[in-house]
Amino acid sequence: MAPPSEDPAGRPGGGILAVTGVGRPRGDPGAVLSGLLAQPPAPGAGGVALWGSRACRGSSLGRLRAMWNNITVCSLWRPSPSFMSSRIQTLTRLFIRNYKDFCKDRQTIWTLQNSLCQVMKKTVPTLKCNMFPRCFVSNKARYGQYTKTFPVLDGSIPSVCEHVFEENLRNSEACIQRYSELLCKVSKGGGENAILRHTQRNKKLLVRERLRMLLDDETFLELSPFAGFDLPYGDVPAAGCLTGIGKICGIWCVFIANDATIKGGTIYPISVKKQLRAQQIAIQNRLLSVYLVDSGGAFLPLQAELFPDESHGGRIFYNEAIMSAMKIPQVAVVCGSCTAGGAYLPTMAEETVIIDKIGTMFLAGPPLVKAATGEDISSEDLGGARMHSKVSGCVDHFASSEKEAYECVRNIILTLNYELPPEETLEYDDPLYSAEELLGLAPRGYSYTLHIKLILSRLIDGSRFQEFKAEYGTTLVTGFAHMEGHLVGIVANNGELTHDASLKGSHFVQLCSQRCVPILFLQNTAPHAPEPTSLSQAEDHTNRLKAQASMMAAVACAGVPKITLVIGGCYGNESYAMCGRSFDPNFLFLWPNARVALVDSRHISTFPQARDDDCIGDDSELKHLKEKLDEESSAFHSSARLWDDGIILPQNSRKVIAQCLTIMKQQKYQIASLQRYPVIRL
Ligand code: COA
Repeated sequence: MAPPSEDPAGRPGGGILAVTGVGRPRGDPGAVLSGLLAQPPAPGAGGVALWGSRACRGSSLGRLRAMWNNITVCSLWRPSPSFMSSRIQTLTRLFIRNYKDFCKDRQTIWTLQNSLCQVMKKTVPTLKCNMFPRCFVSNKARYGQYTKTFPVLDGSIPSVCEHVFEENLRNSEACIQRYSELLCKVSKGGGENAILRHTQRNKKLLVRERLRMLLDDETFLELSPFAGFDLPYGDVPAAGCLTGIGKICGIWCVFIANDATIKGGTIYPISVKKQLRAQQIAIQNRLLSVYLVDSGGAFLPLQAELFPDESHGGRIFYNEAIMSAMKIPQVAVVCGSCTAGGAYLPTMAEETVIIDKIGTMFLAGPPLVKAATGEDISSEDLGGARMHSKVSGCVDHFASSEKEAYECVRNIILTLNYELPPEETLEYDDPLYSAEELLGLAPRGYSYTLHIKLILSRLIDGSRFQEFKAEYGTTLVTGFAHMEGHLVGIVANNGELTHDASLKGSHFVQLCSQRCVPILFLQNTAPHAPEPTSLSQAEDHTNRLKAQASMMAAVACAGVPKITLVIGGCYGNESYAMCGRSFDPNFLFLWPNARVALVDSRHISTFPQARDDDCIGDDSELKHLKEKLDEESSAFHSSARLWDDGIILPQNSRKVIAQCLTIMKQQKYQIASLQRYPVIRL
């Protein structure tokens, strides 16, 4: 039997755990309800369905809600005397007799859910279909039932817009050229000499070769490959470490792997930021983390920007403990010389493998020992694989080669006791329009924006869109669609975020949250709001501000996964309401044409006055400010600083978003229960 994919509220997140009924004989409520109250929910659990008047009433429900605070608790129907029919009483008794031993085991839950469905169908045939919670319908059926009936968008490009399309296309091609050049630079790591030193002298595999040995297949979502370019302290290709999400033994895992060809894998401030972001993604999406550690620790010339502050290097180790306590497993491989911070990271991991003659770990290496104590000691004796696996216990597994180490990691992952469902291939239709045309729709500037539905029709399954409030607040388009079979709520800019558009956005975001549907924000915010010139305009502005504030609150508090894709402008305050970085989307990507800034340089006509006197900055100051703003607004500037999770090509967007939706769904299949303490190495 296929596992349920949605709870009664329709959100992805697992099955119904229990049902309590009406008209039960005294004493029986204990069987199910007490079971629920006695133990916390499994993290994969999507919800509890309470059935009937007693269960849905008063203190039981209150207690359950308080305890299962992140789990949907809902009633299958509202208690009403008219439902106290003998049929339902029979049904309830039958159900309770069969399932009185509440059990958290997943298979039992599925069986329970399925059986309830059968029982209901047989016993209460007169109940209308819509009385059944939606999770009783399999994914495929649900897809067939709903998607094929969503209206199809007209994605044909009006001939009057062709010149805009051509301009956008030229701009996209130039941006993609820069994208390809940067990718080429990233692939060279620390350069030819460093690669030779790494492979010939140090006999190590390159970071991407390591990854290939670990992963099940080529499906790898690399995060922020352009991080570290053109920073005040120089270029640090890929921030000196590769991060991303790939599958091992069928499980999506976050990877954090040092690239030792870049200054010995030492950690720059941007490397810390990249690793912290990868850990945050692991935490938010509850993904197992694998660290391939090959790092000389802190890049010493920048130690002041690396060491003391809250989100500096130490935070990585803090997160390791917190993640372990959250039951997010972490496995490390020591696959190079790891000094200082490079030694803490594997020692803090739950299980660690070290590679003979390649992996070493110490707080200070042989040269420092010599300087401090005068003692000559080899790396192997000081902190080699044998020493750590036999004497110190800082590692748990000894591997005689890199291949053996990665096999060991796969074996460790097989012990995690993850119960994944059999791979389910969702049926879906491709969009009716070519993704290549997205290059001509990616706006080179705000005034080159075409209707957002042209973009939508090239991203979503079958170009089918169930629009919400189509006629109201039309500068924001909201509605439901599928991405490679995954249901998603879409919030897309189609002009300024006006008062009406913001209210509509708030309403729709709450709907998604209520139904537990992940949200995709397609962001293209307006570069500036016009200055009010009359009292009525000022009033409009105030109202718009209030409505935008509501939308921000709705977005911030929506308890569903969120993905933000910046397809054009990411400007000013409106970008917060559209789930900008500070609003914590699970993933945030940019198209290469995207512009990220508080204001658009093209809309500044005077130099801002900093003082009260009449001194206005001259033209050269204004020109300088515009150039600076222009440079700082580019998608590459943003990605270099990790304000996003990477730049993706418009034509790949659908694949990337669908992959993120699949990754985010994995957490519902973890069977681990909550615990408060990390695994501590003893
Ligand atoms: N800070 C700054 N630069 C460092 C560094 C550090 N902690 N560790 C290494 N580097 C630089 C080296 O100066 C060298 O730079 P170059 O290519 O411009 O000459 C580059 O990284 C590679 O180092 P190298 O020693 O030539 O490579 P390797 O592969 O033989 O060894 C290490 C790499 C990391 C094992 C070795 O350099 C080392 O042990 N470094 C000291 C680590 C340390 O003491 N860290 C303490 C952090 S608190």
